[in-house]
Formats: sequence, C-alpha cells, structure tokens
Amino acid sequence: MKEKENVRQRAVGILTSGGDAPGMNAAIRAVTRAAIVAGFKVYGIMRGYKGLITDEIQQFSTQNVSNIIQRGGTILKTARCKEFTTPEGRQCAYDVLQRHGIDCLVVIGGDGSLTGARIFANEFNFQVVGLPGTIDNDLYGTDSTIGYDTALNTIMDCVDKIRDTATSHERLFFIEVMGRDAGFLALNGAIAAGAEAAIIPEIATQVEQLDELIANGFRKSKNSSIVLVAESPQTGGAMGLAERVKQKYPDYDVRVTILGHLQRGGSPTAFDRILASRMGAAAVDALLDDQRNVMVGIKNDEIVYVPFTKAIKNDKPINSELMNTLRRLSI
Ligand code: F6P
Repeated sequence: MKEKENVRQRAVGILTSGGDAPGMNAAIRAVTRAAIVAGFKVYGIMRGYKGLITDEIQQFSTQNVSNIIQRGGTILKTARCKEFTTPEGRQCAYDVLQRHGIDCLVVIGGDGSLTGARIFANEFNFQVVGLPGTIDNDLYGTDSTIGYDTALNTIMDCVDKIRDTATSHERLFFIEVMGRDAGFLALNGAIAAGAEAAIIPEIATQVEQLDELIANGFRKSKNSSIVLVAESPQTGGAMGLAERVKQKYPDYDVRVTILGHLQRGGSPTAFDRILASRMGAAAVDALLDDQRNVMVGIKNDEIVYVPFTKAIKNDKPINSELMNTLRRLSI
C-alpha cells in the first residue's frame, strides 16, 4: 500500500455516472477511504457530470461513506448529462474543479461515462481514472464490471420464479433482460437459470435457431420453456419474438416478461462488494502512480489497468464455449 509520505496534499473528486449499478456505493467507499489513507482530500460530486458542471460538490470524510457497502444504487446519485458532451459544458466542469482545487477524478460508470472521461482528460490534460460500473459487463479488458454479478443473480431469481408458473401452465416464456447491446446478462442468466435458449445480439443466427428449436418441439419432454432475450434492436426484443412465434406456431401458449429496472437494484452480492472494494483501492494506487486515462479492470483475479481507448472502443467478445454449453444442456 502506498502511504502518505511522498504525496503532496492532493484532492480527488469522485462521481458516478450513467445507469446505476449495485456495488457503486462499495466503490465510492473504497476510493474515499483508500484516498484518505494516502493523504488526499476527497470530494463527492453529486449527479455525475451534471453536478460537476453545476458545482454540487462536498468534501467527504470516512464517515460519509459509513454503512453504505451493503446498499444498492449510489449515494452520489447519477445522471446522463448532455451538457458534458459539449466543449462549453466540459470547460465549465473544468473551472469548477479548479475552484475546488481538485486535481484528479475517479469516474465510476459504463461505456458512455468513460467516453466522457476520456475526452475530458485529453482536452484538459487532467488525471482521470475510471472504474467499470455497469450491470451490462460490456467493457473490454475486464472480466467483470461492478454490478454485473448482482444483476445476474437477480435475473436468476426472477427466472426461477417465472419457471414455477411457466411449468404449471405449460407455457413458453420470453424473458427480456437488460444489457443494451451486449448479451452477457442474457447468456449467463440463461445458463444459471437452466433456460432453453438465449437470444443475444452478438450471435445473429440465434433467431433462426429459435425456429429450429420450436420446429423440433421445444416441449416434447418438457412442460415449460424459457427463452432469455437481450434487449436490443438486433434481437427484436422479447415482444417482437413472441409475436413472431405466436403467428407461426399458434399452438404455443406464449407469454412475455420484461424484467426492466429491477435488474439494477438490490443489495450487491459479496462478489460485487469485493470487486468494487479492490477496484476502488486500485484506482487510488493508479492516481499515486500518476496513471491517467485508464480504467481499472480485473483479469484472472488480478487487478489490471486498461487504457480508456481500449476499454471503450473494443467490443468485448462473448465466449463461444458458454453458448455451446447452453445448447448442450437445453435438450
Ligand atoms: O447501461 C445500463 C442499462 O441498465 C442498460 O442495460 C439499459 O439499456 C440502460 O441502462 C437503461 O437506461 P435508463 O435507465 O436510462 O433507461
């Protein structure tokens, strides 16, 4: 651990931005405490980039982050901020940071938030470190993002419950899960809940394979069938697929459930709390090492630092072994 001696009094601002994710609070706590131990002043910035522009900033002590590790959501609140996408908005944010004497930022968020961070850091030569906070798990260079494991467990619990009613009525259910343009939640949720199929944007042929599954008689040896669908224009969403199936196979009793924002809530799992704590502490190490424009990631249980350009621009691949496993086990 890096200690106080070789550090001038520096000041770090922390913000959460974009869609909230369970474990963001654990990350805020970890950054605050590790930074205070390292001799930084810590500032909590409210409502993401919005609060940075409107100067909603307060100094944090260790007490500000007491009793939050177990709470979902984010005590800093969050927003999607249009103004920060403009040069004027970013200039305003920079001026506010200067006024508070804040010389570095930790941004906790997903792809859009880290894109904003990268532009800002380059424009003003400002030190920014990112933490991957999103349930979508769609950031390249990290095996997991903060919130993903909790959302996956929520999906699994919901699908378990839907299966009870699906079985009683011998129905086919299309269950839509979040992920924006990524299929990690749908695919792993399907494996965890023992679903018959997952329709994800990364694998275009899945929709045709669904036809195949249905033509072969989904229900021959089963009294319910569950298909997880990733929300995305590419998959057509659960509603679109259900309509298609109803028209083509009128014998099937089809229902749709869209899990929606409940996937973003709830107390974080132990995995997400530990991940967020490790990543938060690692973000402070990165600040001390004068790293900039990097996202903290985890690879094979080791902390890694991924340049923003790589984390944001590269598409994180789906492991084909997972899809094969799902197919082999859904007979
Ligand atoms: O990025 C997280 C996420 O939950 C996506 O899975 C989803 O598409 C999106 O945010 C929903 O955003 P909002 O809460 O702004 O509707």
